Amino acid sequence: MTASAKTISDALLHWYDAHARDLPWRNPPGAARPRDPAWPYRVWLSEVMLQQTTVAAVKPYFSKFIASWPTVDALAAAKEAEVMAAWAGLGYYSRARNLLRCARAVAARDGFPETEEELRQLPGLGPYTAAAVAAIAFGERAVVVDTNVERVVARLFAITAPLPGARKAIRERAAEITLQQSAGDFAQAMMDLGAQICTARDPKCLLCPLAGVCAGRAQGDPALLPVKAPKKPKPERRGRAYWIERGGSVWLVTRPGNGMLGGMRALPDDGWSAQADGSSKPPFPGAQIRLGAVKHVFTHASLTLELVRIEGEPDGEGEWWPIERIVEAGLPTLFAKAARLVLAAKA
Ligand code: ADE
Repeated sequence: MTASAKTISDALLHWYDAHARDLPWRNPPGAARPRDPAWPYRVWLSEVMLQQTTVAAVKPYFSKFIASWPTVDALAAAKEAEVMAAWAGLGYYSRARNLLRCARAVAARDGFPETEEELRQLPGLGPYTAAAVAAIAFGERAVVVDTNVERVVARLFAITAPLPGARKAIRERAAEITLQQSAGDFAQAMMDLGAQICTARDPKCLLCPLAGVCAGRAQGDPALLPVKAPKKPKPERRGRAYWIERGGSVWLVTRPGNGMLGGMRALPDDGWSAQADGSSKPPFPGAQIRLGAVKHVFTHASLTLELVRIEGEPDGEGEWWPIERIVEAGLPTLFAKAARLVLAAKA
């Protein structure tokens, strides 16, 4: 079963013509690239948002960002705190900080560069995004590999070596089937096939345009691919966050710099994120009342965050935020959960 790259690419593009998902950042299959100068911006923004995040979760954020900042220049002029707050709930917050760094660099040079190589030079823009933007926004033959594409390629070529070690082989195979023709459509067709047909569990091979040339299917059970190295259990962390209230407002801080949830508004806490096990930062003075705990799973750790009410004054920098407008504070999910727990207990 040795299908040519052209056979595979043609079959996939033909399938995409009929089955491409209609997405707000997307140009329809086969259509000429829009002349709108904001088009590369929309592609870039969507690709940054879509990393490690589902299409369904991204859609409302994409609309909100485009409504607030319709061009890269508008985004570049935004305040970091506003961008971080608008990103709240989407996770992986370093993406938002890098988004702004990159927008500012693009605005300073009067628009996006048009090649993968030049895109790679921009601050905060990684190899995946450079390839995706080069292919989708500018039609460059770039090899675009996300987790969906990884799965499709591992199955198509029956690559049985486990991830992450198999990444190099997967990339080489992806490069073999990536042709110049319809580069942007091809990249997105691979993603759509992975998301809709060649799904992680229960792939729908009967509907797959590549079923006849798929080595994984020929070998038996494509759902067994890609093989993944066993996951290490996540370390369990514990921390404390403080609820300090005064006259209908709660004390919020902005988390520092580039650390965990850096730049995001949050409840003050005991510094759990900097410690491997618990923390050492002394709590605020004043009477303490335990309110409950929330659990949250991050990429590298699971956290149990205990919530403690302080009957006293906060110290350090922060702001009193009206509790009735807490949803507008742009709290990341962990602290939004914590605030909901406190407010539900009051109701
Ligand atoms: N995932 C990442 N980029 C995507 C895109 N352009 N279309 C669909 N899913 C994606």
